[in-house]
Amino acid sequence: MLSAAEATFDFRTLTVKALRPLLFEIKNHYQSSESVAKNKKNLVAFGVNSPEKDKEPIGFLLASINHNTSEEDSRWKSGLEILSLAVKKPWRKQRVATSLLHASIQFAKSAGLCGCCIDQPTTTGFASALEHLFSEKRGWCLSSESVIFTLDCSTSGIIELQKRFQLASLHQQRQWGWHVEQYPSALTPALKSRLLDPNIPKWARPIDLSQFPESDQVLPTHCRILRVENDIVGWLIAFHAGEDLIRYGKIWVDNLWQKRGGLVALLTDAVQAAHYPESYGGSLNFTSSIKYKRGCCSFARENIAMRKFSEKNFRPVSAHWVDIATKTLRFKA
Ligand SMILES: CC(C)(COP(=O)(O)OP(=O)(O)OC[C@H]1O[C@@H](n2cnc3c(N)ncnc32)[C@H](O)[C@@H]1OP(=O)(O)O)[C@@H](O)C(=O)NCCC(=O)NCCS
Repeated sequence: MLSAAEATFDFRTLTVKALRPLLFEIKNHYQSSESVAKNKKNLVAFGVNSPEKDKEPIGFLLASINHNTSEEDSRWKSGLEILSLAVKKPWRKQRVATSLLHASIQFAKSAGLCGCCIDQPTTTGFASALEHLFSEKRGWCLSSESVIFTLDCSTSGIIELQKRFQLASLHQQRQWGWHVEQYPSALTPALKSRLLDPNIPKWARPIDLSQFPESDQVLPTHCRILRVENDIVGWLIAFHAGEDLIRYGKIWVDNLWQKRGGLVALLTDAVQAAHYPESYGGSLNFTSSIKYKRGCCSFARENIAMRKFSEKNFRPVSAHWVDIATKTLRFKA
């Protein structure tokens, strides 16, 4: 297990740039699960140095200990989420990743956690290595599948698309009378009825912002709802995902309102405010001066509407498009 200083200085190049700020949050001494506040993340890192004299860092695993109080997420009460795993090229295929994974699992067990999980990319060059590492044979189970794509909002392709969506939304809004609004900061009766709606699949359920863990980095000013009279018919939750990166997740619009431009409207309004705030003309009292250069969007594979829409519109202009398998390893009680 690495100390904060080692992880921050020696091993930083072994994780993606977007995750590097997290390394500063690594604690020197891991606190037992009881002493970590519920709903707070606690980061740990594991590293392997080369056996030679210069002790070059060759492998790194970054993970987060999550304490979950949300009843919606039945995966576990506490678990180790693997955020990043990398081995330097010349040292690959020598079981370095296997030993890092083993060390992190042993740590999770000794810390009394319920299991481990990872969002495993399945369409990158290392998909087959990851398939071996997180295989059923080794006790890992597939719990859900999703897609994540990233957009660089300064590219002309995205700017053109955004303009086209804005015009389409305006037209549909006039015709159907829905409104895009800021997500309620507290539980309103309309939101409560959707939270309890049995027809909403688990992956799409809206959230109660006042109860949502701070550690999940939700950005309340960037979350949206789609309202029709007094009903909420759609929502989008925005998360801070890096210095210049915002992530849109839990995107849902009721079937009827998808066909009436609701999905396009939700995304267009959120994207305009986050990435082009200087020309945001939405109906919200929006004062944020933070401009996010990039946006990423994640959605469950079962979210057919979002999948079709994104495949057609975003995939051709996306910077990255990755299929994800969320895998879990549960420890026996
Ligand atoms: C994926 C990665 C971490 C694997 O590291 P590694 O140290 O080479 O892995 P190991 O030597 O421990 O091998 C683990 C398993 O994968 C298999 N494997 C490793 N590389 C492989 C490859 N290129 N193709 C197919 N199988 C491979 C091994 O045979 C082994 O399988 P087994 O235990 O069933 O025999 C490494 O390739 C890497 O850093 N890739 C770039 C970063 C990345 O993609 N990270 C994952 C994002 S979280």
